[in-house]
Amino acid sequence: MFHDLPPALADRMRALEAADAVDRHDGTPHLERLRQIPPETGRLLALLAAGAPQGALIEIGTSAGYSTLWLALAARQRGGHVTTYEVLAAKAARARETFAAAGVADVVDLVVGDAREFLGTSPAIGFCFLDAEKDVYLDVWHQIADALVPGGLLVADNVLSHAEQLAPFCEAVLADERVDAVVVPIGKGELVARRRI
Ligand SMILES: C[S@@+](CC[C@H](N)C(=O)[O-])C[C@H]1O[C@@H](n2cnc3c(N)ncnc32)[C@H](O)[C@@H]1O
Repeated sequence: MFHDLPPALADRMRALEAADAVDRHDGTPHLERLRQIPPETGRLLALLAAGAPQGALIEIGTSAGYSTLWLALAARQRGGHVTTYEVLAAKAARARETFAAAGVADVVDLVVGDAREFLGTSPAIGFCFLDAEKDVYLDVWHQIADALVPGGLLVADNVLSHAEQLAPFCEAVLADERVDAVVVPIGKGELVARRRI
């Protein structure tokens, strides 16, 4: 999967990595910044999503589509799609450009709006990546926990970089008997939860 990245996709990943590195330090307002995952987290997502059980592959928090590119690799391997939710129209427009330029628009369904308005109708979920504003994490958990198929995975970003803000979310997931969960110290800290079989 990582040894034969299509050139258009690899180019777009590099361009977004460069843009993210710049906007962290050039005074771009917080909501406009890309705030992407680092590449090693992308590889972890692609590996986990590719091997997740059958079911929807979803992402909450698209930004310009960098993490979605990693999930699109997994979607291709699964012979399916990734559905990604972005609340800001300007970011969604940028993500649409990303998917067209990287050649993955055929496997990505971009939904513009607050993911919480759509998750109640989600089909069974095989894999979910959660990387939105921190105050939505617990709501999302309550919405998706029962929609995860047996063996289905939730990966939530920033649980170490935003440990204090995300403590209620982490405590709820780690104590939830529907899942087995662990914090993985890669990138900004990933909480990985697997629905018990
Ligand atoms: C940290 S950035 C996502 C970065 C992206 N996952 C990546 O690594 O390339 C968070 C994004 O989530 C979006 N967002 C925040 N709350 C949301 C919600 N309730 N529903 C959908 N998107 C949301 C923000 O507008 C922002 O673009």
